[in-house]
Amino acid sequence: MLLVGLTYNLKSGSKNGEQNGRSAVPEPIAPDAEAEYDDITTILAIKKALEGNGCRVTLLEADKDLPVKVAEAKPDIVFNIAEGIYGRGREAQVPALLDFYKIPYSGSDATTLCIALDKSLTKRLLSTYGIKAPKGRVITREQDELAGRFHYPVIVKPSAEGSSKGISDAAIASNRKELQELIKKNISLYKQDMLVEEYISGREFTVGILGNGRNIHVFRPMEIRFVDRGNRYNIYSYNVKQNYKEYIRYDCPADISRAAEAEMTDTAKKIYEALSCRDFARIDFRLSPEGDLYFIEINPLPGLAPGYSDFPMIAEFNGMDYDTLVWNVLKSALERYGMISSIK
Ligand SMILES: Nc1ncnc2c1ncn2[C@@H]1O[C@H](COP(=O)(O)OP(=O)(O)OP(=O)(O)O)[C@@H](O)[C@H]1O
Ligand SMILES: [Mg+2]
Repeated sequence: MLLVGLTYNLKSGSKNGEQNGRSAVPEPIAPDAEAEYDDITTILAIKKALEGNGCRVTLLEADKDLPVKVAEAKPDIVFNIAEGIYGRGREAQVPALLDFYKIPYSGSDATTLCIALDKSLTKRLLSTYGIKAPKGRVITREQDELAGRFHYPVIVKPSAEGSSKGISDAAIASNRKELQELIKKNISLYKQDMLVEEYISGREFTVGILGNGRNIHVFRPMEIRFVDRGNRYNIYSYNVKQNYKEYIRYDCPADISRAAEAEMTDTAKKIYEALSCRDFARIDFRLSPEGDLYFIEINPLPGLAPGYSDFPMIAEFNGMDYDTLVWNVLKSALERYGMISSIK
């Protein structure tokens, strides 16, 4: 029987208030500081899905003792959803460790995860493939004066975050004064460079991808439709994600023309391949009122919280239940490593 190690990071509230090895994070801590971390219910749902497909599963919380835990557990393969502990390359920490020990794992490798976590670096790389993204500029932590001109409104996002950390309706600035204040506040909260991007109005979509090489499957796009609450700017923010039933209607397959859908799925696949993604990923887009498709960002480690995260929702809408989705992620990895014959 295949022994699968499951690597993850838990929200601290999810394990008796312990601090999850994050003591190195200086004050003040942002309210969404742990947004990327998982709840124990997600870990148990993945475990159950893998067990239901004939695997033995050992839980390996990705804290500072992970190297010892991995060495003792000796998994055949690891199902990785760990977000990492600290630093710009944190999502790459577990894959790099597993590569160091030559242990196979699901999902993208350290290089892809490092690049994708840096939104401006990703956009710069993808521009060489002709992928259109909102124009933007990085404001570094050291920079205290705003140089140059911006076309307002702009959105300000931490350069290296996920789960909408630091992104709310308040992340929009409509003039220079607002922008200056927002940057100052966010640099102090998130302690990292800020990406200032032109705000793209219009519709929002997300596309899920599963598999590798000739077996890449692109799910039909899901639209994130904002309920009209009189908001000037619709932002799929941390607050909106947490209270999505109030703010959002999900439409999948999205109600768009065949040509627009084809452009979106082809672009998603091109991005996935350009960044050498493996096994699964989710890509966010905006479609401007003029019909231009903009790449917003890619998540090569998309959330897998059942009944909450977008990726399982997309799969479900496309007729693939949660357990099958989780199994297909692992199966893609097993195929990649030529291990598929060693199962069941
Ligand atoms: N340039 C932009 N123009 C308009 N809206 C934007 C832009 N950039 C981001 N947004 C809005 O902010 C939301 C979050 O941004 P983004 O996807 O970059 O953040 P994230 O934290 O990495 O999200 P995820 O939870 O998908 O990892 C988007 O879904 C979108 O609604
Ligand atoms: Mg996003």
